[in-house]
Amino acid sequence: MTSEATTEAPQIHKGLAGVVADTTRISKVNAETNSLLYRGYPVQDLAAQCSFEQVAYLLWHGELPTNAELAEFTAHERSGRALDPVVKSVIDTLPTSSHPMDVCRTAASVIGARHPRSEDSSPEANLAKAKDLFAAFPAVVAYDQRRRRGQDVVEPREDLDYSANFLYMTFGEEAAPEVIEAFNVSMILYAEHSFNASTFTARVITSTLADLHSAVTGAIGALKGPLHGGANEAVMDTFEEIGTEGGDITRRAQAWLEDALATKKKIMGFGHRVYKKGDSRVPTMKAALDKMIAYYNRPDLAELYTALESAMAEKKNIKPNLDYPAGPTYHLMGFDTQTFTPLFVAARITGWTAHIMEQREANSLIRPLSEYNGPDQRSL
Ligand code: ACO
Repeated sequence: MTSEATTEAPQIHKGLAGVVADTTRISKVNAETNSLLYRGYPVQDLAAQCSFEQVAYLLWHGELPTNAELAEFTAHERSGRALDPVVKSVIDTLPTSSHPMDVCRTAASVIGARHPRSEDSSPEANLAKAKDLFAAFPAVVAYDQRRRRGQDVVEPREDLDYSANFLYMTFGEEAAPEVIEAFNVSMILYAEHSFNASTFTARVITSTLADLHSAVTGAIGALKGPLHGGANEAVMDTFEEIGTEGGDITRRAQAWLEDALATKKKIMGFGHRVYKKGDSRVPTMKAALDKMIAYYNRPDLAELYTALESAMAEKKNIKPNLDYPAGPTYHLMGFDTQTFTPLFVAARITGWTAHIMEQREANSLIRPLSEYNGPDQRSL
């Protein structure tokens, strides 16, 4: 058995765990201090004080926008929100039995093929594409949920900010300020997280010098899986399996967990490859969830949340990740469970495209080696 490049037994880093693949200036995940910085700013401070538009600008440009820069950026974002009729007609051909992430993946690809600068990967073109995709994607997510409910497209409103308009296009009515604020927080927390699986996928695709939309389309595929973005949906499935009606919620959560662990199930919304002492984003998202629980008067969900979290701590000593509070937050807002990961897509488009641009700046083809362990050479 030899590796592709050497006869010495190589050290294998299964799942690339612990491998530092490159440098990045975009975000710093510090597992020891449970902290996450975007371009140097703590994410909880950004969530408390900034709009998602400001954070998107920060991720791409490295600095927060001045008032004039923000005005120019948001004007562009507001003018690019309408659902392209061609994208709509392609979405309409997709069965409602398909997962909404399949719709996102397809839409990203169609938007890319229709972009006037589709084959231009210059820094200016990539920044323009990133901003266009950021502006266009909420309409895709909102319309896909609506069509599954037999509802028509809702045209965007230019007088609303990103989060307020996203909620408006999805539900056809203006959301309450508390709901808009919690949604804005979730978008900021989901925006960026260094070399996670989907971002790394985007960087691998970019490293071949493929275009930005190809990289985003691939990243959406990587995000769909339940070990990554798909976990926020799976959390809600768990909550629904346990249920909050009738009987002792805490006892039911404990019993459900015992059964699940006995069959070696992974408990969705818990654990993290990098954070072992807890996900830095959870306290901020949990505070947003608590506000939604109070707003919608659902103390039963709070009880279930705490019961499962405590049982998991006791049985496995594993802490929640961002998807654990985000799933029930989106549920309370009225999103269908299968729309949760598409919301993650809309947020992470910012981080992915920032990484695509960074990868392009100092590119090297990403191509690791493998250790062959198949049959020795043999004759036909
Ligand atoms: N449920 C049960 N056991 C778990 C969980 C979990 N959620 N997470 C880790 N473990 C256990 C593993 O079974 C393993 O135990 P063992 O050593 O006895 O076999 C040990 O903890 C180490 O787990 P690994 O899977 O090796 O850790 P890894 O770093 O590879 O996994 C991952 C990280 C994939 C996120 C894992 O924790 C998991 O599957 N979690 C559930 C899915 C999830 O919530 N994903 C969202 C990630 S965050 C995000 O995308 C925003």
